[in-house]
Amino acid sequence: MIVKKLLPLKMATMTSLPLAVTLVSSIGKDNKPNIMVVTYVTGVNEEPPMFGIAIRPQKHSNSLIRFSRGFVINIPTLKLIKEIDYCGTHTGRSVQKFGQLGLLPIKARKVKAPLIAECPINIECQLDKIVKLPSHDFFIGKVVVLHVDKKLVEGKKNIYGVLLPKFNQLDFVFSTFLDYRVIGEKKGTAFQEHKKLNIGGICL
Ligand SMILES: Cc1cc2nc3c(=O)[nH]c(=O)nc-3n(C[C@H](O)[C@H](O)[C@H](O)COP(=O)(O)O)c2cc1C
Repeated sequence: MIVKKLLPLKMATMTSLPLAVTLVSSIGKDNKPNIMVVTYVTGVNEEPPMFGIAIRPQKHSNSLIRFSRGFVINIPTLKLIKEIDYCGTHTGRSVQKFGQLGLLPIKARKVKAPLIAECPINIECQLDKIVKLPSHDFFIGKVVVLHVDKKLVEGKKNIYGVLLPKFNQLDFVFSTFLDYRVIGEKKGTAFQEHKKLNIGGICL
């Protein structure tokens, strides 16, 4: 018999599933760019593509995103693990994180916030709406430009004709609260694995 144990509810959002670690860049009226770690990040719409990020009201980035009405979701890899942790533990109110960490800001195409050059994927988002939640503000942004390092998209399309970044070359970082982890090698193909069950049924 499978026995379940009940854990405190406060562990639910941070520890019950791995969360993608992203670096969100933003900029304020003084033109100083900032970076924070956001793990409460998810795609929320496909047409048009939209992302949501949840940020506590007291974070510096929260007011910067409100000011410039945009943000960039930068996807870091394992080699930036120390820089990631710094961005998640220091506020841009007192430190210039780009300069301090030697990260290179690149001018974005459509939003004011810069891309982080060292991150292989950068998603420019234009702020669409803010949903007020009890402890966080949920910023919903429309994707206006998607950048991927050129060397990652040279090559074959997948079976759906989509040119996917070569994710197997990247050590994406996930967090399970106090642990940083990486996703590993490809183990299967979505919408295909179910066929190996050989149990029929109407496939949508
Ligand atoms: C692993 C990790 C994940 C985090 N995820 C979030 C998050 O999703 N939302 C949030 O508001 N803060 C999150 N934080 C905290 C902020 O990144 C942190 O407070 C940062 O220093 C805020 O910077 P700022 O004041 O310059 O905006 C996270 C921190 C770490 C270390």
